[in-house]
Amino acid sequence: NGLLGEVWDDEMSSSMLGTRMKKVVQNYQAMNKYGVELSGPGGVSGTPKLSGPELLCQLKDKVEVATLTPDLQPFSLLPWATQLPPQQLTSDLGPYKSCAVVSSAGSLRDSGLGKEIDSHEAVLRFNAAPTTGYEKDVGSKTTIRLINSQVMASDDHRFLSSSLYSSGVLVAWDPAPFSADLTKWFNRTDYPIFAQYQRYRRLHPLQPFYILHPRFEWQIWQRIQDNMAEPIQKNPPSSGMLGTVLMMSLCEVVHVYEFLPSRRKTELCHYYQRFYDAACTLGAYHPLLYEKNLVKRMNQGSDRDIYTNGRVTLPGFRKLNC
Ligand code: C5P
Repeated sequence: NGLLGEVWDDEMSSSMLGTRMKKVVQNYQAMNKYGVELSGPGGVSGTPKLSGPELLCQLKDKVEVATLTPDLQPFSLLPWATQLPPQQLTSDLGPYKSCAVVSSAGSLRDSGLGKEIDSHEAVLRFNAAPTTGYEKDVGSKTTIRLINSQVMASDDHRFLSSSLYSSGVLVAWDPAPFSADLTKWFNRTDYPIFAQYQRYRRLHPLQPFYILHPRFEWQIWQRIQDNMAEPIQKNPPSSGMLGTVLMMSLCEVVHVYEFLPSRRKTELCHYYQRFYDAACTLGAYHPLLYEKNLVKRMNQGSDRDIYTNGRVTLPGFRKLNC
């Protein structure tokens, strides 16, 4: 590996961050806005370190991709519940053979990965990430777009009117209480996800649009915490991590691009914006640093794939023999 530059080390810790970011992370570790209750080995140093295959099986066993359906309370009591898809996302979509998850990292710029990304059967993108004008680097196929409630609610993103959101399948999520109690969440969403969902559905009634069950985000959070030697931020995982696990449940093999930074590693936040902040890659609000440690440990590709293509290879859950 002598000629290879550095790739993500699976034991990144908040102690390796600069002073400013270390403070931000510590604040979120202490804040606990969502009422996280610690259980299990989480945060205890000396936690036995699982192998990649063991981690994969744990993830498959303990995380369920669930979406809201019209029969669930309190939604079943509301007239707009009929706008929710009647079936689970996992029974409607896939199985796909080979999939791409396209992080929005600045290091995708000048990557030339577009053709490779488009060669996959299904491609997942995040939030406001465009393809128009960036095809050479990120491709043009969008099968699924995972969006957070902040993007749905903010005026700048023009969620209801922008053509960015009108192709492919939409999947939305919102940082919910740790209990994942639907009534508590409904009464206290982070952003007005349900009001925006109803408006969007009226304007685009034929486009498939799912909402993730909050259990999903916190089950993944628990997998990250239980496998780290220090306390992680008490906030939900980033869209990147949610989308990766979502695709692992739909695909035979998942390729994640520029989640673990390649040789193009940069402080440029997104490939589509001129905004620089290392927190985009290392995390502040989200436990992104620890998500990346976990993904590095589960990676079945080579360090060279990460270094030159920013590419991680993960098996789909169906293909795993646990
Ligand atoms: O910023 P946004 O959440 O839309 O980006 C999509 C995902 O890509 C993030 O949730 C994160 O997992 C990943 N990302 C990253 N490094 C960046 C920017 C985004 O790992 N610089």
